[in-house]
Amino acid sequence: MDIKNSEYEKYIGLLLKHNEKRREGGKEMLAYVYTFGCQQNEADSERIRGLCASMGYGRAQSADEADLIIVNTCAVREHAENRALSMIGELKHRKAENPDTVIGICGCMVAQRERAEQLKMRYHNVDFTVEPNSVYMIPRLVWQKISDKKYKRSFMWDTDTGEVCEGIPVMRDVSHRAYVSIMYGCNNFCSYCIVPYVRGRERSRKSEDIIAEVNALIDTGCKDITLLGQNVNSYKSDCDFATLLSRITEREGDYIIRFMTSHPKDTPDALIDVIATSHGRVEPHFHLPLQSGSDRILRDMNRKYGTERYLTIVKKLREKIPDIAITTDIIVGYPGESEEDFEKTLDIMRLVRFDMIYSFIYSPRKGTPAAEREQLSESVKGERMRRLLALQDEIAIEKNQRAVGTTVRVLVDGESSEMGIYSGRTAQNKLVHFSATENDVGKYLDVEIERASAYVLYGKIKNEKRI
Ligand code: SAH
Ligand code: SF4
Ligand code: F3S
Repeated sequence: MDIKNSEYEKYIGLLLKHNEKRREGGKEMLAYVYTFGCQQNEADSERIRGLCASMGYGRAQSADEADLIIVNTCAVREHAENRALSMIGELKHRKAENPDTVIGICGCMVAQRERAEQLKMRYHNVDFTVEPNSVYMIPRLVWQKISDKKYKRSFMWDTDTGEVCEGIPVMRDVSHRAYVSIMYGCNNFCSYCIVPYVRGRERSRKSEDIIAEVNALIDTGCKDITLLGQNVNSYKSDCDFATLLSRITEREGDYIIRFMTSHPKDTPDALIDVIATSHGRVEPHFHLPLQSGSDRILRDMNRKYGTERYLTIVKKLREKIPDIAITTDIIVGYPGESEEDFEKTLDIMRLVRFDMIYSFIYSPRKGTPAAEREQLSESVKGERMRRLLALQDEIAIEKNQRAVGTTVRVLVDGESSEMGIYSGRTAQNKLVHFSATENDVGKYLDVEIERASAYVLYGKIKNEKRI
Protein backbone atom coordinates (compact mmCIF):
# COMPACT_ATOMS: atom_id res chain seq x y z
CA MET A 1 0.00 0.00 0.00
CA ASP A 2 0.92 3.67 -0.28
CA ILE A 3 -0.06 6.11 2.44
CA LYS A 4 -0.87 8.62 -0.30
CA ASN A 5 -4.50 8.20 -1.33
CA SER A 6 -5.13 5.90 1.66
CA GLU A 7 -7.65 6.61 4.43
CA TYR A 8 -4.73 7.68 6.64
CA GLU A 9 -4.13 10.71 4.46
CA LYS A 10 -7.53 11.96 5.57
CA TYR A 11 -6.52 11.83 9.25
CA ILE A 12 -3.22 13.55 8.49
CA GLY A 13 -5.21 16.35 6.82
CA LEU A 14 -7.67 16.63 9.73
CA LEU A 15 -4.86 16.85 12.29
CA LEU A 16 -2.95 19.37 10.19
CA LYS A 17 -6.00 21.63 10.07
CA HIS A 18 -6.61 21.18 13.80
CA ASN A 19 -3.00 21.91 14.74
CA GLU A 20 -2.82 24.92 12.42
CA LYS A 21 -5.90 26.36 14.07
CA ARG A 22 -4.25 25.91 17.48
CA ARG A 23 -1.15 27.65 16.16
CA GLU A 24 -3.21 30.59 14.92
CA GLY A 25 -4.72 30.70 18.42
CA GLY A 26 -1.19 31.05 19.83
CA LYS A 27 -0.47 27.42 20.82
CA GLU A 28 2.10 25.49 18.84
CA MET A 29 1.43 21.75 19.12
CA LEU A 30 4.64 19.74 19.65
CA ALA A 31 5.56 16.05 19.34
CA TYR A 32 8.37 14.02 20.89
CA VAL A 33 9.56 10.55 19.85
CA TYR A 34 11.65 8.29 22.12
CA THR A 35 13.59 5.48 20.46
CA PHE A 36 14.88 2.24 21.95
CA GLY A 37 16.47 -0.63 20.02
CA CYS A 38 18.26 -1.11 16.74
CA GLN A 39 18.80 0.93 13.57
CA GLN A 40 15.54 -0.43 12.19
CA ASN A 41 13.75 1.32 15.05
CA GLU A 42 15.80 4.49 14.45
CA ALA A 43 14.62 4.41 10.85
CA ASP A 44 11.01 3.81 11.94
CA SER A 45 11.28 6.78 14.32
CA GLU A 46 12.39 8.95 11.39
CA ARG A 47 9.16 7.95 9.68
CA ILE A 48 7.13 8.63 12.83
CA ARG A 49 8.72 12.11 13.07
CA GLY A 50 7.89 12.63 9.40
CA LEU A 51 4.26 11.69 10.12
CA CYS A 52 4.17 14.05 13.13
CA ALA A 53 5.47 16.93 11.02
CA SER A 54 2.90 16.25 8.29
CA MET A 55 0.18 16.22 10.99
CA GLY A 56 1.26 19.77 11.91
CA TYR A 57 3.26 19.01 15.06
CA GLY A 58 6.45 20.95 15.70
CA ARG A 59 9.38 19.13 17.24
CA ALA A 60 9.57 19.21 21.05
CA GLN A 61 12.98 19.35 22.74
CA SER A 62 11.75 16.94 25.44
CA ALA A 63 8.62 15.04 26.47
CA ASP A 64 7.94 17.72 29.11
CA GLU A 65 6.74 20.17 26.49
CA ALA A 66 5.15 17.67 24.08
CA ASP A 67 1.45 17.37 23.25
CA LEU A 68 2.05 14.07 21.46
CA ILE A 69 4.56 11.54 22.82
CA ILE A 70 5.43 8.35 20.95
CA VAL A 71 7.68 5.71 22.54
CA ASN A 72 9.24 3.35 19.99
CA THR A 73 10.16 0.22 21.95
CA CYS A 74 12.45 -2.81 21.61
CA ALA A 75 11.98 -6.35 22.90
CA VAL A 76 15.23 -8.07 22.02
CA ARG A 77 16.44 -8.40 25.62
CA GLU A 78 14.72 -8.03 28.99
CA HIS A 79 16.76 -4.93 29.78
CA ALA A 80 15.37 -3.11 26.71
CA GLU A 81 11.80 -3.85 27.77
CA ASN A 82 12.42 -2.78 31.36
CA ARG A 83 13.89 0.52 30.24
CA ALA A 84 10.91 1.23 27.99
CA LEU A 85 8.40 0.28 30.69
CA SER A 86 10.01 2.52 33.29
CA MET A 87 10.11 5.41 30.82
CA ILE A 88 6.42 4.88 29.96
CA GLY A 89 5.63 4.87 33.70
CA GLU A 90 7.46 8.21 34.10
CA LEU A 91 5.23 9.79 31.46
CA LYS A 92 2.32 9.80 33.89
CA HIS A 93 3.71 13.10 35.22
CA ARG A 94 3.26 14.69 31.83
CA LYS A 95 -0.29 13.39 31.61
CA ALA A 96 -1.04 14.69 35.12
CA GLU A 97 0.26 18.13 34.11
CA ASN A 98 -1.69 18.17 30.88
CA PRO A 99 -4.40 15.50 30.51
CA ASP A 100 -4.74 16.36 26.81
CA THR A 101 -1.27 14.97 26.08
CA VAL A 102 -1.55 12.01 23.71
CA ILE A 103 0.74 9.07 24.53
CA GLY A 104 1.22 6.23 22.03
CA ILE A 105 3.54 3.23 22.22
CA CYS A 106 4.84 1.44 19.14
CA GLY A 107 7.76 -0.82 18.29
CA CYS A 108 8.60 -4.45 18.91
CA MET A 109 7.62 -4.67 22.58
CA VAL A 110 3.96 -3.96 21.92
CA ALA A 111 3.70 -6.50 19.09
CA GLN A 112 3.49 -9.02 21.94
CA ARG A 113 -0.10 -9.44 23.08
CA GLU A 114 0.96 -9.81 26.68
CA ARG A 115 2.77 -6.46 26.70
CA ALA A 116 -0.09 -4.63 24.94
CA GLU A 117 -2.43 -6.03 27.61
CA GLN A 118 -0.07 -5.11 30.41
CA LEU A 119 0.01 -1.50 29.16
CA LYS A 120 -3.78 -1.46 28.87
CA MET A 121 -4.34 -2.78 32.40
CA ARG A 122 -1.54 -1.09 34.30
CA TYR A 123 -0.43 2.02 32.43
CA HIS A 124 -3.50 4.24 32.32
CA ASN A 125 -1.54 7.14 30.88
CA VAL A 126 -1.12 5.25 27.58
CA ASP A 127 -3.72 6.03 24.89
CA PHE A 128 -2.78 3.51 22.25
CA THR A 129 -0.31 0.86 21.11
CA VAL A 130 0.50 -0.04 17.52
CA GLU A 131 2.83 -2.78 16.26
CA PRO A 132 5.97 -1.84 14.27
CA ASN A 133 4.75 -2.57 10.74
CA SER A 134 1.65 -0.42 11.24
CA VAL A 135 3.06 3.00 12.16
CA TYR A 136 1.03 4.44 9.27
CA MET A 137 -2.00 4.02 11.57
CA ILE A 138 -0.71 6.61 14.04
CA PRO A 139 -2.60 9.55 12.42
CA ARG A 140 -5.92 7.74 12.83
CA LEU A 141 -5.21 6.82 16.44
CA VAL A 142 -4.16 10.36 17.34
CA TRP A 143 -7.17 11.89 15.57
CA GLN A 144 -9.59 9.54 17.35
CA LYS A 145 -8.14 10.44 20.72
CA ILE A 146 -8.29 14.18 20.00
CA SER A 147 -11.69 14.35 18.31
CA ASP A 148 -13.74 11.75 20.18
CA LYS A 149 -14.66 12.75 23.73
CA LYS A 150 -15.77 9.18 24.48
CA TYR A 151 -12.56 7.73 23.03
CA LYS A 152 -11.76 4.24 24.24
CA ARG A 153 -8.07 3.52 24.48
CA SER A 154 -6.80 1.29 21.65
CA PHE A 155 -4.36 -1.58 22.15
CA MET A 156 -3.42 -3.22 18.87
CA TRP A 157 -0.67 -5.79 18.60
CA ASP A 158 -1.72 -7.91 15.59
CA THR A 159 -2.46 -5.54 12.71
CA ASP A 160 0.49 -6.54 10.51
CA THR A 161 -0.84 -7.25 7.01
CA GLY A 162 2.49 -8.54 5.71
CA GLU A 163 2.67 -5.60 3.31
CA VAL A 164 5.11 -2.71 3.03
CA CYS A 165 3.65 0.78 3.39
CA GLU A 166 5.35 3.22 0.98
CA GLY A 167 5.15 6.99 0.93
CA ILE A 168 5.47 7.70 4.68
CA PRO A 169 7.35 11.00 4.98
CA VAL A 170 10.79 10.68 6.59
CA MET A 171 12.35 13.29 8.86
CA ARG A 172 16.10 12.78 9.26
CA ASP A 173 18.27 14.66 11.78
CA VAL A 174 21.26 15.15 9.50
CA SER A 175 21.61 15.43 5.75
CA HIS A 176 25.01 13.74 5.24
CA ARG A 177 24.05 10.30 6.60
CA ALA A 178 20.83 8.31 6.18
CA TYR A 179 19.16 4.98 6.81
CA VAL A 180 17.06 3.42 4.08
CA SER A 181 14.99 0.38 5.08
CA ILE A 182 14.90 -2.09 2.22
CA MET A 183 13.21 -5.07 3.83
CA TYR A 184 11.30 -5.78 7.02
CA GLY A 185 10.74 -8.85 9.17
CA CYS A 186 12.58 -12.13 9.62
CA ASN A 187 11.86 -15.75 8.66
CA ASN A 188 14.72 -17.39 10.49
CA PHE A 189 13.41 -18.14 13.97
CA CYS A 190 16.76 -18.43 15.70
CA SER A 191 15.87 -20.24 18.90
CA TYR A 192 16.76 -17.32 21.22
CA CYS A 193 15.26 -14.46 19.25
CA ILE A 194 11.97 -12.60 19.57
CA VAL A 195 12.34 -10.60 16.34
CA PRO A 196 10.43 -12.95 13.97
CA TYR A 197 7.48 -12.94 16.39
CA VAL A 198 7.32 -9.17 16.72
CA ARG A 199 8.42 -8.03 13.26
CA GLY A 200 6.56 -10.65 11.24
CA ARG A 201 7.59 -12.38 8.02
CA GLU A 202 10.13 -11.01 5.57
CA ARG A 203 8.90 -8.52 2.98
CA SER A 204 11.05 -6.45 0.63
CA ARG A 205 10.48 -3.09 -1.00
CA LYS A 206 10.55 -2.83 -4.78
CA SER A 207 14.03 -2.10 -6.10
CA GLU A 208 12.82 0.94 -8.06
CA ASP A 209 11.44 2.56 -4.86
CA ILE A 210 14.74 1.93 -3.06
CA ILE A 211 16.90 3.19 -5.93
CA ALA A 212 14.72 6.32 -6.26
CA GLU A 213 15.08 7.03 -2.51
CA VAL A 214 18.86 6.51 -2.56
CA ASN A 215 19.27 8.70 -5.65
CA ALA A 216 17.16 11.47 -4.12
CA LEU A 217 19.36 11.36 -1.01
CA ILE A 218 22.59 11.56 -3.03
CA ASP A 219 21.08 14.41 -5.09
CA THR A 220 20.64 16.41 -1.90
CA GLY A 221 24.23 15.83 -0.76
CA CYS A 222 23.88 12.70 1.37
CA LYS A 223 27.22 10.87 1.43
CA ASP A 224 26.71 7.83 3.62
CA ILE A 225 23.66 5.62 3.22
CA THR A 226 22.93 2.47 5.22
CA LEU A 227 20.52 -0.04 3.70
CA LEU A 228 18.63 -1.68 6.55
CA GLY A 229 16.86 -4.94 7.17
CA GLN A 230 16.68 -7.52 9.95
CA ASN A 231 18.21 -9.78 7.34
CA VAL A 232 19.32 -7.29 4.78
CA ASN A 233 21.05 -9.78 2.49
CA SER A 234 17.97 -12.00 2.19
CA TYR A 235 16.36 -9.05 0.34
CA LYS A 236 14.25 -10.52 -2.44
CA SER A 237 11.77 -8.70 -4.63
CA ASP A 238 12.24 -8.12 -8.36
CA CYS A 239 15.98 -8.79 -7.81
CA ASP A 240 18.26 -10.16 -5.09
CA PHE A 241 20.48 -8.18 -2.70
CA ALA A 242 23.72 -8.43 -4.70
CA THR A 243 21.93 -7.17 -7.82
CA LEU A 244 20.27 -4.36 -5.88
CA LEU A 245 23.66 -3.23 -4.53
CA SER A 246 25.25 -3.30 -7.97
CA ARG A 247 22.32 -1.36 -9.48
CA ILE A 248 22.48 1.29 -6.74
CA THR A 249 26.23 1.74 -7.10
CA GLU A 250 26.13 2.15 -10.88
CA ARG A 251 25.63 5.80 -10.04
CA GLU A 252 28.80 7.94 -10.12
CA GLY A 253 29.56 10.17 -7.16
CA ASP A 254 31.30 10.57 -3.82
CA TYR A 255 29.13 8.46 -1.55
CA ILE A 256 29.25 5.17 0.29
CA ILE A 257 26.61 2.48 0.68
CA ARG A 258 26.54 0.44 3.90
CA PHE A 259 24.18 -2.39 4.82
CA MET A 260 23.10 -4.25 7.91
CA THR A 261 22.43 -6.79 9.30
CA SER A 262 23.60 -9.69 7.17
CA HIS A 263 23.04 -13.37 7.82
CA PRO A 264 25.88 -15.76 6.95
CA LYS A 265 23.45 -18.12 5.22
CA ASP A 266 22.62 -15.37 2.68
CA THR A 267 26.18 -14.43 1.76
CA PRO A 268 26.91 -15.84 -1.72
CA ASP A 269 30.13 -15.16 -3.64
CA ALA A 270 28.17 -12.83 -5.95
CA LEU A 271 27.60 -10.45 -3.03
CA ILE A 272 31.29 -10.43 -2.12
CA ASP A 273 32.12 -9.75 -5.79
CA VAL A 274 29.78 -6.75 -5.92
CA ILE A 275 31.51 -5.19 -2.90
CA ALA A 276 34.96 -5.92 -4.37
CA THR A 277 34.15 -4.32 -7.73
CA SER A 278 32.13 -1.34 -6.50
CA HIS A 279 35.03 1.19 -6.77
CA GLY A 280 34.73 1.79 -3.05
CA ARG A 281 31.06 2.70 -3.29
CA VAL A 282 30.07 -0.24 -1.09
CA GLU A 283 31.74 -0.04 2.32
CA PRO A 284 34.74 -2.31 2.92
CA HIS A 285 33.06 -3.54 6.08
CA PHE A 286 30.92 -6.60 6.70
CA HIS A 287 28.89 -7.07 9.85
CA LEU A 288 28.38 -10.81 9.99
CA PRO A 289 26.80 -12.09 13.22
CA LEU A 290 28.47 -15.34 14.33
CA GLN A 291 26.59 -15.77 17.68
CA SER A 292 28.73 -18.75 18.79
CA GLY A 293 31.92 -20.55 17.81
CA SER A 294 30.50 -23.96 18.73
CA ASP A 295 28.80 -25.97 15.96
CA ARG A 296 26.70 -27.76 18.54
CA ILE A 297 25.34 -24.46 19.85
CA LEU A 298 24.88 -23.01 16.34
CA ARG A 299 22.76 -26.04 15.47
CA ASP A 300 20.72 -25.63 18.61
CA MET A 301 20.29 -21.93 17.83
CA ASN A 302 18.88 -22.86 14.38
CA ARG A 303 21.44 -20.61 12.69
CA LYS A 304 21.62 -22.71 9.48
CA TYR A 305 25.43 -22.49 9.11
CA GLY A 306 28.42 -24.04 10.85
CA THR A 307 31.81 -22.58 11.73
CA GLU A 308 33.38 -24.02 8.59
CA ARG A 309 30.98 -22.12 6.33
CA TYR A 310 31.47 -18.98 8.41
CA LEU A 311 35.26 -19.18 8.13
CA THR A 312 35.02 -19.76 4.37
CA ILE A 313 33.04 -16.51 4.00
CA VAL A 314 35.63 -14.63 6.10
CA LYS A 315 38.45 -16.05 3.95
CA LYS A 316 36.72 -15.05 0.70
CA LEU A 317 35.95 -11.55 2.01
CA ARG A 318 39.61 -11.02 2.93
CA GLU A 319 40.91 -12.46 -0.32
CA LYS A 320 38.74 -10.26 -2.50
CA ILE A 321 38.64 -7.13 -0.32
CA PRO A 322 41.98 -7.02 1.54
CA ASP A 323 41.18 -3.90 3.61
CA ILE A 324 37.79 -5.18 4.76
CA ALA A 325 36.74 -4.73 8.39
CA ILE A 326 34.74 -7.63 9.80
CA THR A 327 32.51 -7.18 12.84
CA THR A 328 30.12 -9.57 14.55
CA ASP A 329 27.49 -10.26 17.23
CA ILE A 330 28.10 -12.90 19.90
CA ILE A 331 25.75 -14.28 22.52
CA VAL A 332 27.31 -15.41 25.79
CA GLY A 333 25.62 -17.89 28.12
CA TYR A 334 23.12 -19.48 25.75
CA PRO A 335 21.31 -22.37 27.53
CA GLY A 336 23.51 -25.46 27.54
CA GLU A 337 26.68 -23.56 26.57
CA SER A 338 29.49 -25.53 28.22
CA GLU A 339 32.92 -24.20 29.09
CA GLU A 340 34.17 -26.11 26.03
CA ASP A 341 31.56 -24.44 23.76
CA PHE A 342 32.54 -21.06 25.12
CA GLU A 343 36.25 -21.78 24.55
CA LYS A 344 35.39 -22.51 20.91
CA THR A 345 33.90 -19.02 20.61
CA LEU A 346 37.14 -17.55 22.02
CA ASP A 347 39.14 -19.72 19.58
CA ILE A 348 37.24 -18.40 16.57
CA MET A 349 37.73 -14.86 17.83
CA ARG A 350 41.50 -15.46 17.95
CA LEU A 351 41.36 -16.92 14.45
CA VAL A 352 39.21 -14.28 12.74
CA ARG A 353 40.39 -11.29 14.79
CA PHE A 354 37.22 -9.24 14.44
CA ASP A 355 37.55 -5.48 14.22
CA MET A 356 34.67 -5.15 16.65
CA ILE A 357 32.22 -7.35 18.50
CA TYR A 358 28.77 -6.59 19.84
CA SER A 359 28.41 -9.06 22.67
CA PHE A 360 25.23 -9.85 24.56
CA ILE A 361 24.48 -11.90 27.63
CA TYR A 362 21.71 -14.32 26.68
CA SER A 363 18.32 -13.04 27.83
CA PRO A 364 15.42 -15.51 27.84
CA ARG A 365 12.52 -14.25 25.68
CA LYS A 366 9.14 -15.71 26.50
CA GLY A 367 7.68 -17.67 23.58
CA THR A 368 11.05 -18.59 22.07
CA PRO A 369 12.31 -22.22 22.29
CA ALA A 370 15.55 -21.40 24.13
CA ALA A 371 13.67 -19.70 26.96
CA GLU A 372 12.19 -23.09 27.91
CA ARG A 373 15.60 -24.69 28.43
CA GLU A 374 17.57 -24.91 31.63
CA GLN A 375 19.40 -21.62 32.08
CA LEU A 376 23.01 -20.94 33.08
CA SER A 377 23.61 -19.00 36.26
CA GLU A 378 24.11 -15.24 36.11
CA SER A 379 27.58 -15.65 37.59
CA VAL A 380 28.71 -18.04 34.83
CA LYS A 381 27.29 -15.74 32.15
CA GLY A 382 28.95 -12.69 33.73
CA GLU A 383 32.32 -14.39 34.08
CA ARG A 384 32.28 -15.55 30.44
CA MET A 385 31.31 -12.09 29.26
CA ARG A 386 34.28 -10.55 31.10
CA ARG A 387 36.68 -13.04 29.49
CA LEU A 388 35.22 -12.41 26.05
CA LEU A 389 35.48 -8.63 26.41
CA ALA A 390 39.07 -8.86 27.69
CA LEU A 391 40.10 -10.95 24.68
CA GLN A 392 38.34 -8.66 22.21
CA ASP A 393 39.94 -5.55 23.76
CA GLU A 394 43.36 -7.11 23.25
CA ILE A 395 42.61 -7.95 19.61
CA ALA A 396 40.98 -4.61 18.79
CA ILE A 397 43.78 -2.54 20.37
CA GLU A 398 46.37 -4.52 18.49
CA LYS A 399 44.46 -4.08 15.20
CA ASN A 400 43.79 -0.38 15.76
CA GLN A 401 47.45 0.26 16.67
CA ARG A 402 48.30 -0.66 13.12
CA ALA A 403 46.35 2.38 11.94
CA VAL A 404 48.63 4.74 13.91
CA GLY A 405 50.70 6.82 11.47
CA THR A 406 48.31 6.24 8.57
CA THR A 407 45.90 8.78 7.09
CA VAL A 408 42.22 7.89 6.89
CA ARG A 409 39.35 9.60 5.11
CA VAL A 410 36.60 10.46 7.55
CA LEU A 411 33.06 11.74 7.13
CA VAL A 412 32.58 14.20 10.02
CA ASP A 413 29.46 13.49 12.08
CA GLY A 414 29.44 16.03 14.89
CA GLU A 415 30.91 16.99 18.23
CA SER A 416 31.76 14.12 20.58
CA SER A 417 31.06 14.33 24.31
CA GLU A 418 34.28 16.38 24.64
CA MET A 419 34.08 20.03 23.57
CA GLY A 420 35.91 20.81 20.33
CA ILE A 421 36.55 17.12 19.62
CA TYR A 422 34.57 15.85 16.67
CA SER A 423 33.81 12.30 15.67
CA GLY A 424 33.50 10.71 12.29
CA ARG A 425 33.64 7.33 10.59
CA THR A 426 35.96 5.82 8.03
CA ALA A 427 34.75 3.74 5.09
CA GLN A 428 35.43 0.68 7.27
CA ASN A 429 33.06 2.20 9.83
CA LYS A 430 35.83 2.88 12.37
CA LEU A 431 35.14 5.66 14.84
CA VAL A 432 37.69 8.51 14.71
CA HIS A 433 38.05 11.50 17.09
CA PHE A 434 39.90 14.70 16.13
CA SER A 435 39.63 18.42 16.77
CA ALA A 436 37.49 20.24 14.22
CA THR A 437 34.74 22.82 13.96
CA GLU A 438 31.00 22.78 13.34
CA ASN A 439 31.75 23.89 9.80
CA ASP A 440 33.37 20.51 9.09
CA VAL A 441 30.24 18.47 9.86
CA GLY A 442 29.03 16.52 6.83
CA LYS A 443 32.37 16.87 5.00
CA TYR A 444 35.07 14.35 4.21
CA LEU A 445 38.44 15.13 5.83
CA ASP A 446 41.79 13.38 5.84
CA VAL A 447 42.80 12.56 9.40
CA GLU A 448 46.25 11.42 10.46
CA ILE A 449 45.96 8.82 13.21
CA GLU A 450 48.15 9.51 16.25
CA ARG A 451 46.95 6.95 18.79
CA ALA A 452 44.32 4.23 19.18
CA SER A 453 42.18 2.48 21.77
CA ALA A 454 40.07 -0.66 21.33
CA TYR A 455 37.10 1.37 20.11
CA VAL A 456 38.37 4.73 18.87
CA LEU A 457 41.17 6.07 16.64
CA TYR A 458 42.46 9.52 17.63
CA GLY A 459 44.08 11.87 15.13
CA LYS A 460 44.46 15.32 13.66
CA ILE A 461 43.25 16.82 10.42
CA LYS A 462 45.96 16.50 7.82
CA ASN A 463 47.38 19.49 5.90
CA GLU A 464 44.78 21.72 7.40
CA LYS A 465 44.10 24.67 5.17
CA ARG A 466 41.53 27.01 6.62
CA ILE A 467 40.28 30.34 5.44
N1 SAH B 1 18.84 -9.82 12.46
C1 SAH B 1 20.07 -9.62 13.00
C2 SAH B 1 20.09 -8.99 14.38
C3 SAH B 1 19.02 -9.28 15.34
S1 SAH B 1 19.09 -8.70 16.97
C4 SAH B 1 20.83 -10.92 12.94
O1 SAH B 1 20.32 -11.96 12.70
O2 SAH B 1 22.00 -10.90 13.15
C5 SAH B 1 20.75 -8.25 17.22
C6 SAH B 1 21.53 -9.20 18.04
O3 SAH B 1 20.96 -9.33 19.32
C7 SAH B 1 21.61 -10.60 17.50
O4 SAH B 1 22.55 -10.74 16.51
C8 SAH B 1 21.96 -11.39 18.74
O5 SAH B 1 23.36 -11.45 18.91
C9 SAH B 1 21.36 -10.55 19.86
N2 SAH B 1 20.20 -11.22 20.47
C10 SAH B 1 19.04 -11.55 19.89
N3 SAH B 1 18.23 -12.15 20.80
C11 SAH B 1 18.91 -12.19 21.96
C12 SAH B 1 18.62 -12.70 23.26
N4 SAH B 1 17.46 -13.30 23.53
N5 SAH B 1 19.54 -12.54 24.23
C13 SAH B 1 20.73 -11.95 23.97
N6 SAH B 1 21.06 -11.47 22.76
C14 SAH B 1 20.17 -11.59 21.75
FE1 SF4 C 1 16.70 -12.87 15.22
FE2 SF4 C 1 17.90 -14.81 13.90
FE3 SF4 C 1 16.12 -13.28 12.66
FE4 SF4 C 1 18.46 -12.27 13.36
S1 SF4 C 1 18.14 -13.93 11.88
S2 SF4 C 1 16.48 -11.32 13.64
S3 SF4 C 1 18.92 -13.30 15.26
S4 SF4 C 1 15.71 -14.71 14.32
FE1 F3S D 1 14.73 -4.49 19.19
FE2 F3S D 1 12.91 -4.83 17.38
FE3 F3S D 1 15.30 -3.99 16.69
S1 F3S D 1 13.27 -6.15 19.09
S2 F3S D 1 16.62 -4.93 18.21
S3 F3S D 1 13.88 -2.91 17.94
S4 F3S D 1 13.99 -5.36 15.55
